Amino acid sequence: MYTQDQLKQQVAAAAIDFILPKLQADTILGIGTGSTVDLLIDALAEHKDKFKAAASSSERSTQRLQQHGITVLDLNQVASMDWYIDGADEIDAQLNMTKGGGGALTREKIVASVAQHFLCIVDESKVVAQLGAFPLPIEVIPMARQVVTRRLEQLGGQVKWRSGFVTDNGNDIIDVHGLTITDPAQLEAQINDIPGVVCCGLFALSGASVALVAGQQGVTTMS
Ligand code: 5RP
Repeated sequence: MYTQDQLKQQVAAAAIDFILPKLQADTILGIGTGSTVDLLIDALAEHKDKFKAAASSSERSTQRLQQHGITVLDLNQVASMDWYIDGADEIDAQLNMTKGGGGALTREKIVASVAQHFLCIVDESKVVAQLGAFPLPIEVIPMARQVVTRRLEQLGGQVKWRSGFVTDNGNDIIDVHGLTITDPAQLEAQINDIPGVVCCGLFALSGASVALVAGQQGVTTMS
């Protein structure tokens, strides 16, 4: 029986196998954030001469990439990328995701938006029939935390402030429990529209293109 950490290691290795044939000297790779992505970055290090640079979604990933000698570009220098690779907290069969467990959702969504394709890498515990068991992270402007909380309570959620956590952008995160997410794209648009919301952790209006899922029987592909 593989542990979750071993499965994360396996999916990181599978992501390397997936991306290696696509790398060219001028390739810029979009890199997400989290413990699965940390393992991906470590595995990517030995191939750093096969691509040009990375665009990173967090200070955490930037630091790790740079420690391995991988060049990290400011996103303002990047007009397009073929692939963005990141983990998720939940993913469904339509490749809608919940992200932001690590609090990096805003930069993740921004960097992903520059890429043509999103490769999601997860262990099988993240695959769900319907999003919502994992509390939905939302980045908010600090002064708007209470007004946004009231709006989300009207949508049926119970809101918890991630007290003591500040995002790379200097904002707060609130985690919304108990939402019934039957239409992730509609809910993402609705939450995006609340003044004070910087970013909603639903990635459904633009979901993953492909997912690699590590399970006890090996790594499978969802697309
Ligand atoms: C960070 C994220 C991560 O992708 C998500 O939390 C999964 O993390 P991990 O690979 O550590 O399980 O969205 O904001």
